[in-house]
Amino acid sequence: MARALSVSLGERSYRIVIGDRSAWQADPLPELVERGREGLLVTDANVARAWLPDVREALEARGLRLSVLTVPAGERSKGPDALATVYDALLAAPIRRDGWVVALGGGVVGDLAGFAAATYLRGIAWIQVPTSLLAMADSSVGGKTGIDVGGKNTVGAFHQPRLVLTDPGFLVTLPDAELSNGLAEVVKAGMIADPVLFDLVESRAAAVLGRDPAVLEELLARAVQVKIAIVEEDERESGKRQLLNLGHTFGHAIEAALDYRGIRHGEAVAIGLVAACRLSTLLGLAPSELVGRIEAVLGSCGLPIRGPGIGWEGLRPRLEQDKKAREQGWSFVLTGGVGNASVHRRVPEAAVREAAAYAEA
Ligand SMILES: NC(=O)c1ccc[n+]([C@@H]2O[C@H](COP(=O)([O-])OP(=O)(O)OC[C@H]3O[C@@H](n4cnc5c(N)ncnc54)[C@H](O)[C@@H]3O)[C@@H](O)[C@H]2O)c1
Ligand SMILES: [Zn+2]
Repeated sequence: MARALSVSLGERSYRIVIGDRSAWQADPLPELVERGREGLLVTDANVARAWLPDVREALEARGLRLSVLTVPAGERSKGPDALATVYDALLAAPIRRDGWVVALGGGVVGDLAGFAAATYLRGIAWIQVPTSLLAMADSSVGGKTGIDVGGKNTVGAFHQPRLVLTDPGFLVTLPDAELSNGLAEVVKAGMIADPVLFDLVESRAAAVLGRDPAVLEELLARAVQVKIAIVEEDERESGKRQLLNLGHTFGHAIEAALDYRGIRHGEAVAIGLVAACRLSTLLGLAPSELVGRIEAVLGSCGLPIRGPGIGWEGLRPRLEQDKKAREQGWSFVLTGGVGNASVHRRVPEAAVREAAAYAEA
């Protein structure tokens, strides 16, 4: 059984359908078709191999005409060269103002194709079909798009999709490490705002790792709803959306210190979540048992809870570079316990250092 969640953003509102592809047939594609039948589907080589024929058939059965562009898999496809190939494909099709883009893939394809849709002819409609857990639970929600130009996510735009079609069935071909990568964001969502989601991961981690469809659907519906509620309040990240950065100030610092090599985003976030929980307990905001609890759940998801041993001297400049940390002294998203997060400013550096020494060692 599929569920449809609504993202209410005035005229930029859209639906996120979570369920088996057969349920897509009931969804409001016709409204998009009225705008124009021509679309460009962008995907990567791994996803194309596993799922392109199925998805193409499902969309073409609805009367849509698709051109397809397959980019190489991996973050390198989120750069200006890959973007130019998307524009070339849009022009070659040709896709007009009433046409649209389909992003079939993980967060890389979503960010790349979404940014192309945001900018081509000053913005055309797009549909997201996320295939990695990270994309399903996180990056397909909220309309952030962008590419890497001389640094990570340096160029981007807010451009909400018109529809998100999420089928947990795609996760059967996702490598285990990528599934774990996405689970870090799911645990984060539970930690920020949904104790039931946190309990679900805690109690059903084996079923999640085994790709149990019913458990995955429930988990995704909850994680997506957490992000929807925050995005609805703060579409452009001027306030509440910062909560989504729980674990990310430390996580980004770790990724940046390693030059984004040898560690996945979710792995860095997992260590960052441990550090943020430790920092919260050091400041007396959360009970000390919280650290053990987050470590256990992350560990059961196949995520690291310590490392990679950069040390304070390497980490400190990266933490200071994080724009969220720099605004007012040391600023962090901290937690008072599962389901509760808030932004704290002027956090004492000694506590930050101690939390880093605990988790990052
Ligand atoms: N826009 C946002 O709000 C937002 C939020 C978080 C992350 N991001 C971005 O997302 C990107 C990371 O996304 P990601 O972790 O999905 O990486 P990714 O898109 O590179 O996907 C990870 C790997 O899994 C493969 N894959 C994806 N789905 C598959 C499937 N069903 N079967 C087999 N293989 C599959 C891909 O080919 C790739 O090799 C980063 O660039 C990050 O900046 C964006
Ligand atoms: Zn993240």
